[in-house]
Amino acid sequence: MRVLGIAGSLRRASYNRALLDAARQLAPEGVSIDRFDLDRIPLYNADLDVDDQRPDEVGRLKAAVSAADALLIVTPEYNHSVPGVLQNAIDWVSRPGMKSPLAGKPIGIMCASTSVIGGARAQQQLKLVLLGTLSLVMPHAGVLVGQAPEKFDNAGTLTHEPTRQFVAAYLTALEAWTRRVGTPATAQS
Ligand SMILES: Cc1cc2nc3c(=O)[nH]c(=O)nc-3n(C[C@H](O)[C@H](O)[C@H](O)COP(=O)(O)O)c2cc1C
Repeated sequence: MRVLGIAGSLRRASYNRALLDAARQLAPEGVSIDRFDLDRIPLYNADLDVDDQRPDEVGRLKAAVSAADALLIVTPEYNHSVPGVLQNAIDWVSRPGMKSPLAGKPIGIMCASTSVIGGARAQQQLKLVLLGTLSLVMPHAGVLVGQAPEKFDNAGTLTHEPTRQFVAAYLTALEAWTRRVGTPATAQS
């Protein structure tokens, strides 16, 4: 099973990218998680969202989403919502509406934050956004890694053992969810 991992932060020492990298290591056997970095995705412009104008990096992102059996989005909370970087990427991938690479795609969501409950509101907002794309967010209480500086070491390794176990269990659940709901036909090609 191939999962595409996307982090909603571009920060070099991002806890969310570090959490995604931890997930890559903790994935169950038979599940591989690739990482797609959003650094080079331009701002959405509908004038460029046509076949001979679309930026190459956007084409790469859409192809990667299409080819994946599932997505794993790992994002910070910005101002009680989703970072613009992530929303922008979702906007590009979400077209054509209702028939985009996101339609029917199983999705898992995790958040890391420096605060205690940071991420909870971002997850709620993200679920609403993804509902509009017809993607299939896994029903789950949510992975919220609060007080992140206490859970990662200086090299960005997730060292907090209970969190490692929780993330591993979440990934096992995401694998089961993906098998249960199936993947859109584009992922098979
Ligand atoms: C523009 C901005 C808005 C933020 N808004 C929130 C917020 O609403 N709630 C929260 O818990 N943390 C908020 N934070 C703190 C981030 O959650 C924290 O910096 C986190 O570590 C960022 O994720 P990263 O380490 O993956 O870059 C905000 C940070 C920034 C830069």
